Amino acid sequence: MQDIQIMPSILAADFGALRAGCERAAAAGADQLHVDVMDGVFVPNISFGPEAVRVAAGAVSIPLNVHLMVVNPMPYLEVFAEAGSDTMLVHVESDCDAESALREIRRWGKRAGITINPNTAAERVFALVDEGLVDEVLVMSVEPGFGGQAYMASAEPKLAALRARYAALDLSVDGGINGATVKGAAEHGANLIVAGSYLFGQEDMKASIRELRESAVESRLRKR
Ligand code: DX5
Ligand code: ZN
Repeated sequence: MQDIQIMPSILAADFGALRAGCERAAAAGADQLHVDVMDGVFVPNISFGPEAVRVAAGAVSIPLNVHLMVVNPMPYLEVFAEAGSDTMLVHVESDCDAESALREIRRWGKRAGITINPNTAAERVFALVDEGLVDEVLVMSVEPGFGGQAYMASAEPKLAALRARYAALDLSVDGGINGATVKGAAEHGANLIVAGSYLFGQEDMKASIRELRESAVESRLRKR
């Protein structure tokens, strides 16, 4: 079984103290940092660009999981690679050829991820995974754009379909994850857990990361 990993989303950090937010998450035991890049067109919000990725990369030594919510990621893959991304995730709904984007991410020596929105079927990414182009599939459990939204359990059958087909795939879930919702996501196959407002809202992030990890491990085992 794949490792369970917890990825705090720094969208929920204090933007005025971004470096400290990254350091806090790493010190609390985060496995990777999740960085949300939004262009205000693909999603109705604008967040981080490559400079924020550079700040995060300079602050911590854990990997950066960079989620590109932009209309066309192609022209930006190089700059986000150079900024210090370890994984770059594009959306299958983006205005670019997903296969070319995934190949380009690998060409920069990075892990390549593909993301699906709540209204997109899991089957949309099967061919890409079958071709061996994908290191991680991210299933959105909220409409992308904002932190702090409610978890949509409609992500779960999609996680289950992907997990049934790909036992060894890194499968991430993003949106509305907390101590309760993590269980359903992990039980249906997610092994990489993104959590923003829940983790950054905790006084003791270390204890909360440990609890999320324990719940996820237990839920994954129960399902085996
Ligand atoms: C939403 C982002 C998420 C967000 C999750 O568009 O992709 O990564 O930070 O935030 P929470 O965990 O607060 O739902
Ligand atoms: Zn995200």
